[in-house]
Amino acid sequence: MKHYLQFNDLNADEYAYLFERAALIKKKFKAYEKHHTLADRTLAMIFEKASTRTRVSFEAGMYQLGGSVVHLTTGDSQLGRAEPINDSAKVISRMVDLVMIRTFEQTKIEDFAADSRVPVINGLTNEFHPCQILADIFTFIEHRGSIQGKTVAWVGDGNNMANTWLQAAQLLGFKVHVSTPSGYEVDEKLAMGAGGTSAGSYQFFKNPLDACRGADLVTTDVWTSMGYEAENEERKKAFADWCVDAEMMSVAQPGALFMHCLPAHRGEEVEADVIDGPQSVVWDEAENRMHAQKALMEYLLLGRQA
Ligand code: CP
Ligand code: NVA
Repeated sequence: MKHYLQFNDLNADEYAYLFERAALIKKKFKAYEKHHTLADRTLAMIFEKASTRTRVSFEAGMYQLGGSVVHLTTGDSQLGRAEPINDSAKVISRMVDLVMIRTFEQTKIEDFAADSRVPVINGLTNEFHPCQILADIFTFIEHRGSIQGKTVAWVGDGNNMANTWLQAAQLLGFKVHVSTPSGYEVDEKLAMGAGGTSAGSYQFFKNPLDACRGADLVTTDVWTSMGYEAENEERKKAFADWCVDAEMMSVAQPGALFMHCLPAHRGEEVEADVIDGPQSVVWDEAENRMHAQKALMEYLLLGRQA
């Protein structure tokens, strides 16, 4: 049984399969062709933080695969009344085939997985957001072909998205240029795991403009992630120069793409003329969450399909 708790829970071969499978699944969806490979299977979705894309993409995706979903939040389940995570895992995983969790510490999802009888998917933790990077790379491939050997510029917070980009770069053979304000750097050890290394795939830049030079993809995220709201005012001051603007896009490759996992704050981490401009693929990126996760759910439950 495989869980998907971090990006490096799958290998490069498995990703190559998933990207191809997601393309097929997307093509069938666009042609209104049925693809009920998970008929009678149930996905439990546990949300301890807010969501729009993750909720809709997993829920719609599971129905499109012929399955069904159960939606739980902290507030409307015993999770919010201190039932131990391990007990919850034992109970929920006896009734469903697959579990997706969005929560705070990565250790919580690891604890759940340790006592789960069924595969567990990380729908975002403080440390990682693997489903988003899965969709982002699928989107890059759709627009520009293989990401191998390419350069991704990360501008902003050294957060769950940045950590996941580091893992993906090392695993899939591309470079990630990271620029964060001081005090908000990526923790390379945390990102790569014990004994892991970014093996030259990751480079830090003090100046965000330098990180964007020659990049094939420029990407950013909110200055304040969920769970860090108390730091909002402090972060607004620290991050003022880490706003992706036309100048940053102009030093990237001429055909560079812009991505943002969304939700976005125009005028903070990105200017409106960039996110709403011709290089932005944020709407494809959001839609591709669903296609990529359908391929992922199918793979975790059924393995490779001919
Ligand atoms: N990008 C993303 O995960 O969005 P939601 O928070 O809306 O799920
Ligand atoms: N880094 C953001 C991503 C939201 C999808 C957060 O964790 O809130």
